[in-house]
This record gives sequence, structure tokens and C-alpha cells, in this order.
Amino acid sequence: MHALDQLDELMVCRLGKGRSTPAPCTIVILGASGDLTSRKLVPALFHLHRERLLPPQTRVIGVARRDKTDTSWRDELYDALLRHSRTKPVDAVEWQQFAPKLSYCRGDITDPAAYARLAIQIAEAKDEQARHNRLFYLAVSPSQVADAVTMLTQNRLFERDVLIPAWQRIVVEKPFGHDRYSAERLNVELGRHAHEQQLLRIDHYLGKETVQNLLMFRFSNAIFEPLWSRQAVDHVQITVSEKNGVGDRGGYYEEAGASRDMAQNHLLQVLALATMEPPVSLEAESIRDEKVKLLKSIRPVHPDNVVRGQYSAGSIDGVPCPAYRQEPKVKTNSNVETFLALKVLIDNWRWSGVPFYLRTGKRLPLNASEVRIQFHQTPHVLFSAHCGPTLDANALTLRLQPQEGISLRFNGKVPGATTAVRPVRMNFSYDTEFGAYTPEAYERLLLDAIEGDSTLFIRRDEVDIAWAIVDNMRSGWKDRPLAEPDFYAAGTWGPAAANALVEPSKQPWRNPQPVP
Ligand code: BG6
Repeated sequence: MHALDQLDELMVCRLGKGRSTPAPCTIVILGASGDLTSRKLVPALFHLHRERLLPPQTRVIGVARRDKTDTSWRDELYDALLRHSRTKPVDAVEWQQFAPKLSYCRGDITDPAAYARLAIQIAEAKDEQARHNRLFYLAVSPSQVADAVTMLTQNRLFERDVLIPAWQRIVVEKPFGHDRYSAERLNVELGRHAHEQQLLRIDHYLGKETVQNLLMFRFSNAIFEPLWSRQAVDHVQITVSEKNGVGDRGGYYEEAGASRDMAQNHLLQVLALATMEPPVSLEAESIRDEKVKLLKSIRPVHPDNVVRGQYSAGSIDGVPCPAYRQEPKVKTNSNVETFLALKVLIDNWRWSGVPFYLRTGKRLPLNASEVRIQFHQTPHVLFSAHCGPTLDANALTLRLQPQEGISLRFNGKVPGATTAVRPVRMNFSYDTEFGAYTPEAYERLLLDAIEGDSTLFIRRDEVDIAWAIVDNMRSGWKDRPLAEPDFYAAGTWGPAAANALVEPSKQPWRNPQPVP
């Protein structure tokens, strides 16, 4: 090993107690026939098993309405794993060891008989801890969450005051409610059956390595934090763009739109982590306190600072894409937004006056999520005086996905006899530095849920304040239908009005670029 590599290895600072294999448990997925189970949850559990992070006695029970046997469910999940696994080829021997942990329980989550069958299946575990330690993953629609938890409690499958050291927890998928009022009602309802510490509201963006790295990057380096404020930052652009359309999720998306599907959770979480104050410790509550404080400092978004859009037909990478209104289960006159751009102001000492431009959309030209910190121009002397706007201002881009990494853009002299300045880029790439190991967000989150670490889950007050921001924004357009200029062709960066959102004095949207 090279001497420098040895030094780097010695200098790895391991925080916390490190991962030891948790106690055995039973994981129950309610709503197991959905896409989430086959695309994300089971592949994540399979990888945790493969990396020996799940105890061998772990059991996974899927509850859903369709008629299936254990074998047919496992076969289906295996097919999905072959398609969606982050590691390929799928290790068939590992799957043979993992598959027997999976069993299927047929039943409607509104039917008490389903819970009776589930109770029998849970009791079948040979290991005592696996019988008592229970993680209920609610992959059901928001309107079914409260009833499912009530039924779990009434059937004594879930207990609020379970005897330590046994534990029981509930994971609730997003969206948590569909506005502030419904989320609060849901919180009250769940609070009747569970302690806040037993409730894990998931936002899978928080499980992404690069999103977690926002904290490391900001608070384990001395060089960036002094620049992280209005003194040095001109504005910030946060982009979460997707090439995909809504696919077969039209029914859900018609109720959600980009504001509820992406802004209320992923966009605001990324914004909070990128801008919050340093927490007093790395404890879950300290980090969540700071996020809440930041979210509370967001000024109500003025309707003029919101741009909605919806994709019309177009093409991406040469492949024709239908309009949103032609997607399955979407109304042909739908006014749901598939694109959203906002200008957000944070009323606190650090960020006063700095605009944050946030945008997200489906059927945009690239899959890319990034945070771009745009620094001020240099004072109008020396190079700035000569070059004017052609002198690029420094920028730091945190690439959350794909090509995860960080780039710093600054100016340098073009070699040669003439004096010329142009931007150059310094790149850190996760793959180059750490190898191509990027665990899926759900792996980390499921493991944390089993271990009871709530740091990467959303607290009740966080949900509340995020909804308040989104409800206020949505009230700006109420029932106003989309107009002609709000439509953008699939494969473009959203409606033209999104460009007008970025003040003329600022640099226009910088679209994510593939890294060379
Ligand atoms: C989900 C949204 O939460 O996040 C989807 O419901 C979206 O609409 C997805 O496509 C994006 O997640 P990722 O991890 O692919 O960026």
C-alpha cells in the first residue's frame, strides 16, 4: 500500500459504535404487492443479508390482497431483483439463503381476519426475539395509514409499551398526509397508538450517501463554513431533475403533483441540510432541531416566486415521450404540476437576502440532483473590471446523484503568452475515491429503523412545518388552471417562466452537466 493511502486509512474517524448485527426481528410489509417492495425494500434487505448486517433469524412477511403463495411471491421478488439490484449479477447462492426468510400473508388491511393470520405467521418464528421485535413497514396509501395502525394495535400485533428489551416500530412511507391538516390529524391518530420514538417517517433522500455527506462536508471541514453565508454566497440553486415521467403512478401523482411528491419532502430536506446551523451534537434530536429551526425561518413563498409546469409530448435521448395528460390514470385535462421552480428566502442572520432557487421536474433532459452554491463576483477591480460578466464567479457544486461528488469552479490563467482567464474545475468523485460502492438509501434506512436510530427520519414538527410551506405555496395557485406557457416539451428544462424566476442580476439556471 502506498504511504499516503496508509495515512488516509489511519485517519478514518469512525463515529458512533459502528455497525454490529442487530437483534433478530420480524419485518412486516403492509401493502407488499406495490412497486416499492419489489424495487426497493426487498433488494435492500437482500443486500443487508448479503453483507451480513441482518441477523440470520430475521423474517420478512409481506401482507397484500392478491392471492399468492410464499413460493410465487419469492419468485416474483427474485425476478424484480434481477432487474433492479444495484449489484449484478445477482448472487443466486445468497438468494437461496435469503428467500426462505420471506413469507406471504394474503389479506386486506381493513379486514381483521388478515391480522389474525398475520399474528399466526409472526408467532411461527422459532427465535424468541424475532417473535417480539417487530418492524411494521406501511407501504400503503396515506389514507390507509391510520386504520392500519389502529388494526395492528387492536389485534395486539403492535404495542405502545412493549416490554424492553423487545421493541416495536412503525415505518411510514411518504407522503405523510396530503396537507398540513391531514398530516396533523394523522400524527394525532398515530400518537394514540405509538410513542413518537416508535414512529419513523421516511424520506429516502436522507438515506442517500451524498445527502448525509452534506453534514460531513459542512461540519468536518474548516475551509467551507466561513464561506457558507450571505457574506460569500450570492445565491444557491438546487435541482432535482428526472428523465422519467409518471409511468404507471398516474393515479397517485394526480393527487400529489411535484409540490407534494418532491418539494414537501426531498427538496426541503436537502435545503435544510445544506443551510441549517451546526447542531450541538450528532444526536438525532439535535440534528432534527436544527432542521426544524431552518424550515421555520423560510419566508412564505410569494406566488410570483413559484413557477408550475406540466410536460407535453416531446422526446428524451431521441425516444418520443407522451404528454402527462396522455399517461395512464391521468385526467386528459389535468392541471397537476410535473415541474416546480421556486425562489425561497431564509429569514435568518446567516442567509438574509440570499435567494435559493429550487426546481424539480419529471421528463427533464437528465437525471440529476445537485446543490450549486454560487459565490459573489470579485470586486470590480483588476480582472473583473476588464472581463465584466465573462469572468465567472466561483461555484461549488455538490452532486447528489448520479456521478456523486463535489466540484469547485474557479478561474485560472490560460497558459500562453497572452493574458487570459477562464474557469477551471476541481473534481472529487465518490467512485474514484472510494470505489463504486453506493448502497441504496433504503439499505441504510431499513437498518437504522431496525436499530431504532431516528436521525435520518422526519420528526412530527418537521412534517408540520414542511406542509405549512407547501400549503402556502399551493394556495397561491388554488384552482387556477395551467395556461399555455406553463407546458414544456418533454426533454426540456421546464417552462420558460422558470428562467425569469432567477433575477437578471444573478446567473441563469446552471443546468447539471455530465462530468467528463
Ligand atoms: C419519490 C417520488 O419519493 O422519489 C418519485 O415519489 C421520484 O416521484 C423519486 O421519482 C425520486 O427518487 P430518486 O431516488 O430516484 O431520486
